[in-house]
Amino acid sequence: VDPSLDLFAEIEKLKKETNAIILAHYYQEADIQDLADYIGDSLGLAQQAATTDADVIVFAGVHFMAETAKILNPTKKVLLPDLNAGCSLADSAPAAAFKKFREDHPDHIVISYINCTAEVKALSDIICTSGNVEKIIESLPKDQKIIFAPDRNLGAYVNKLTGRNMLLWDGSCQVHEIFSLEKILSLKKQHPEALLLAHPECEEIILKEADFIGSTTQILKYATNSPAREFIVATEAGILHQMEKDSPDKVFIPAPPSNACACNDCPYMKLNTLEKLYLCMKYQLPEIKMDESLRLAAKKPIDKMMEISR
Ligand code: 13P
Ligand code: SF4
Repeated sequence: VDPSLDLFAEIEKLKKETNAIILAHYYQEADIQDLADYIGDSLGLAQQAATTDADVIVFAGVHFMAETAKILNPTKKVLLPDLNAGCSLADSAPAAAFKKFREDHPDHIVISYINCTAEVKALSDIICTSGNVEKIIESLPKDQKIIFAPDRNLGAYVNKLTGRNMLLWDGSCQVHEIFSLEKILSLKKQHPEALLLAHPECEEIILKEADFIGSTTQILKYATNSPAREFIVATEAGILHQMEKDSPDKVFIPAPPSNACACNDCPYMKLNTLEKLYLCMKYQLPEIKMDESLRLAAKKPIDKMMEISR
């Protein structure tokens, strides 16, 4: 890419020329968030993707999110700046092993977190996100046997919240499992007024200490509306950009990871860059393509989620 190009201006131009909408997750780099037409959590992004009248959906997020957009709105061209933007949580549930797990428990219904592949969605009865999981689970009879996949931390959290005993698939997100309880507690001592905000993909020992637990959108709203001035944020660090924009007079501290060399960035989310965003809009590649029968099978449990979370 020519270094003299003003990528912001070029991307805005391409957006108009191709009637494109940029949907970005909060974990994207700040410049991408600033160019986005909509920034949100997985649920909000799916709802936007389903209802947009743009011709092209440029998905600044990870693969399962762009795939969900295509499943919901198949006549649109869906672009993802880097096709390698995967997800460790989605990777932790390979479809073949998951199919076997499901077959081993025929009396259970399967609720899958949206962070999974289309193949796993097609093996599920209802999809949920961190923003609506409680509502989805509570919509089922108390004695309903449930498999919850793929995130064991979110599953354990919901089990506690709802008093259920869902059978959990043993998957997790590599970003949300790096936080150090010890370091968070010592940070809290230095900042006694600070509230700990955590995403439910974090481990139980971290969630126990949290003042608020929610999806990225819910965490952001809580921070914006809270009278508190300081927050320790136990989720991917990209969300600090909107927190600081919404509340410039508040202090947001990323929760410290156990390993001093680690950071709170999702390596998959951060594969998308401004340059790649520009190139994918210019060349209309890479595009998400899907087999129609897989798309229809994966759509069923997403439609159920959309109905329940309306
Ligand atoms: P939400 O933004 O839906 O809370 O999800 C967080 C996440 O890990 C997305 O990959
Ligand atoms: Fe997947 Fe975790 Fe990255 Fe979210 S933060 S995309 S769950 S690896």
